[in-house]
Amino acid sequence: MKIAVLGAQGQLGRDLVPRLPGKILPLTRAELNLDQPETLAAVLADLRPDLLINTAAYNFVDKAEQEPEAAFRVNAWGVRALATACRDVGCKLVHFSTDYVFGLDAARSTPLRETDPPGPVSVYGLSKLAGEYVVQSIVADHLVIRTCGLYGVWGSGGKGGNFVETMLRVAGQGKPLRVVSDQFCTPTYTADLAALTVELIATGATGLFHVVNAGACSWYEFAAEIFRQSGLTADLSPITSAQFGAPARRPSYSVLSTDRLVEVGVSAPRLWPDALAHYLAERQQR
Ligand SMILES: NC(=O)c1ccc[n+]([C@@H]2O[C@H](COP(=O)([O-])OP(=O)(O)OC[C@H]3O[C@@H](n4cnc5c(N)ncnc54)[C@H](OP(=O)(O)O)[C@@H]3O)[C@@H](O)[C@H]2O)c1
Repeated sequence: MKIAVLGAQGQLGRDLVPRLPGKILPLTRAELNLDQPETLAAVLADLRPDLLINTAAYNFVDKAEQEPEAAFRVNAWGVRALATACRDVGCKLVHFSTDYVFGLDAARSTPLRETDPPGPVSVYGLSKLAGEYVVQSIVADHLVIRTCGLYGVWGSGGKGGNFVETMLRVAGQGKPLRVVSDQFCTPTYTADLAALTVELIATGATGLFHVVNAGACSWYEFAAEIFRQSGLTADLSPITSAQFGAPARRPSYSVLSTDRLVEVGVSAPRLWPDALAHYLAERQQR
């Protein structure tokens, strides 16, 4: 089995590559650039993988509000060309998406299933939803995996670092931290996401899946738990999304149900505080 991984130098890609079986082709933007859709068919025809896992994305959530064309060029049209190229060489496509395909249902308090209707409220979310649709409509043999709030030891290439590292750094500098307490989701450790993705692929299942750690918290609660587990005293206080004033709107509740994942035989994801503990231990070893 020949498996190509696009975004191999990214936060998730670097946790995924060592966990995959078979012959792995780690691909970066230099070999396969989603921003150049017209080049993708030739690259795939040359590589001829059995499976392509796409972890690459335009993921500048706030900046996308100002440059929607750039977000759509990669997340929609680039993914469309990738899906077409996969179909043409008979390759399965595993593609990552986001909880930001959901919207502003503040009254929601039960985890969102794959059957719940999306409704993005940001350009980024809309571009990722378009990416889901093109994968689903072009490649019959696909997995679309929605995930959320990623952090891993490799940090996000696009954003630089991750939320946990930002919290620890700012607290270490003795600066005050104001973190939103009205956005609820499930922060997810990329090592867990990678392991669950490998299990999911092995089941042979196809279609749309939510893959996240278990439980739910606000970003404020996540920050508080980071400091509690790290034994740090931080000047942390909650603020609302309106007070924070980010350019892009985020879902107020985007906790994803993993029931479908478990139904096809994949292990139940562990709780987010347990995953965080594992991450905090792992980062000490690097
Ligand atoms: N991070 C999160 O919190 C989060 C939450 C929900 C869903 N997701 C989704 O999860 C997936 C993985 O995210 P991540 O945090 O691992 O992202 P990441 O660390 O930023 O990695 C993304 C990778 O994509 C590559 N890339 C960007 N533009 C590209 C292009 N035009 N052509 C080819 N490669 C390109 C980047 O390469 P360069 O280094 O060359 O730019 C980078 O290695 C993405 O689909 C993202 O939308 C992420």
